[in-house]
Amino acid sequence: MADITASITATAGSKNCTMLKITDFHTHILPHVDDGSKNTEMSLSMLRSEAAQHVGCVVLTPHFYADRDTPEHFLQRRDEALHHLRKAMEQQTDLPKLVAGAEVAYYRGMSESDALKKLCIGNSSYILVELPAPPWKEYVYEELLEIFRKLGLTPVIAHIDRYLPFWGADRIMERLAALPVLIQANSHFFTRAATASRALRMLQQGKIHLLGSDCHDLISRPPELGKAVERIKNRLGEEFLEQIVQNETKILHNLCCTNV
Ligand SMILES: [Fe+2]
Repeated sequence: MADITASITATAGSKNCTMLKITDFHTHILPHVDDGSKNTEMSLSMLRSEAAQHVGCVVLTPHFYADRDTPEHFLQRRDEALHHLRKAMEQQTDLPKLVAGAEVAYYRGMSESDALKKLCIGNSSYILVELPAPPWKEYVYEELLEIFRKLGLTPVIAHIDRYLPFWGADRIMERLAALPVLIQANSHFFTRAATASRALRMLQQGKIHLLGSDCHDLISRPPELGKAVERIKNRLGEEFLEQIVQNETKILHNLCCTNV
């Protein structure tokens, strides 16, 4: 874990820093596990693209669907893919560090499953959760709270930007702010003309805690966290990026990271 910390915090907190190394917290770079990368060469190209954008660490978050797979079988497939990718990376230099995780699709009763702990990000007690399309019934919010209470895990809500076009988005954000959850936003939320202002405002207001590209390939959903980082740096300054890097560091060290 120490080398990960070095890569993501070497310049954090320094007012003189010119190149902040950030973590891509949501990716589908692992080959052959889900609808992301199709093969090892594509994965390596995606990692080279991440490195070129000064991403120092990549969290690998292949989809997990409890109605299609068991946690044990998923972890076996994920870890085999990770092993092969790491072998291929031995011939490469300057690629980002890798941390294993999962994007766990919400299901009712998930807070009852102890196996969820195995799907956390690295060795942490933070888990990336993909929610269904809003509106959300009360039991969805209750389930998020129970994941924290019963399992001791902190849900990280994946791609919050996906839920905001729906009616009642402000209420959704109010409800989530009252829960022990963190919020991850996708990079294109910050780079698309139609949503950039809202994204920057939410970041300023402390409503976004982590960034991810949610990349699946090199063409239709490529890794482009760098564009979002540039937009944030140019419009808001580096302090908001430094806050995100601090959040990443806490999570990767399994320290307390709260939404306030
Ligand atoms: Fe995703």
